[in-house]
Amino acid sequence: MVQVLADPGETRAFTRRARTAGKRIALVPTMGNLHAGHLALVEKARELADVIIVSIYVNPTQFSTNEDFGIYPRTREQDRALLSELEVDATFEPFSLYTGRAAAAEGQHLAGSEAAPAAESHETYIQVERLQQPLCGKSRPHFFKGVATVVAKLFNIVEPDVAVFGKKDYQQWRVLCRMVRDLDFGIEIVGMPTARESNGLAMSSRNSMLSTEDRKRAACIYHSLKSIQKDLQSGQFHSVHALQSIVAGAITDNGGRIDYVEVMDAGELTAVQEVRDQPVVVAVAAFFGTVRLIDNIEIDAT
Ligand code: PAJ
Repeated sequence: MVQVLADPGETRAFTRRARTAGKRIALVPTMGNLHAGHLALVEKARELADVIIVSIYVNPTQFSTNEDFGIYPRTREQDRALLSELEVDATFEPFSLYTGRAAAAEGQHLAGSEAAPAAESHETYIQVERLQQPLCGKSRPHFFKGVATVVAKLFNIVEPDVAVFGKKDYQQWRVLCRMVRDLDFGIEIVGMPTARESNGLAMSSRNSMLSTEDRKRAACIYHSLKSIQKDLQSGQFHSVHALQSIVAGAITDNGGRIDYVEVMDAGELTAVQEVRDQPVVVAVAAFFGTVRLIDNIEIDAT
């Protein structure tokens, strides 16, 4: 079985010993409930480094009080078995990375409560000021502050040479690339393509909360993104507004409720006037039932 590390000091000592022995270290941060998308990141990490650490931590500061922190699926034994098969060197599974109320709420969760936490005595946070604002930042204003802070903490504990993230969470990936650049973390960030179920739906730990019917219907997100990619790359003209309407129409026709459909500059996540001037990302968030799904596609029609 994979070695399980829980204590930050012990984890840092583990990776420092590896580095002293001349090894390159990769970190794959996760919240567990691992699926093939996570495992593809681990396989990429294996290509890039000698020692692989996978962190499993449901981070309380990226959930707001009305979100699904309490019911987020926790499947530790199954996750460890999958990572053992991939010969991961260690998992880092801290009990808590915070003090004060956030830690107390995590404790309550373990005792069966669904109370979502807010940190109190933890005072230091990272904000990637502009990139955290559009897209998911609008409906989840707390989210990227929580993500950037916990990933910075994981980086400081594990001290990896390289960290692997999925582009399924496209804005998260851009935010973390910017944090690493702005704060001079000497860590290479690698972004991996989205792994999908056989019908095209982006793999997500939240898919298990979808009804059987919605799991089928939600595949329309990817199919609509693929169709506009094909149109644009074959030279068909569409305005930004027309692209949004095509994707939003496909989702609402299939019973989904739109949070956003945005066409943005792929690097800066700024609004674009014209889709042919620069590579763009078309990013979507939509609810099927009570489950919020995100997906995106990069399109270079320049
Ligand atoms: P989590 O949702 O568990 O995802 C962990 C990593 O797996 C992220 O980099 C995410 O982008 C990637 N991932 C998830 N689904 C994927 C898919 N279908 N294809 C490719 N990659 C996929 O993202 C988080 O956790 C957290 O915010 C975290 C970064 C761990 C900070 O708490």
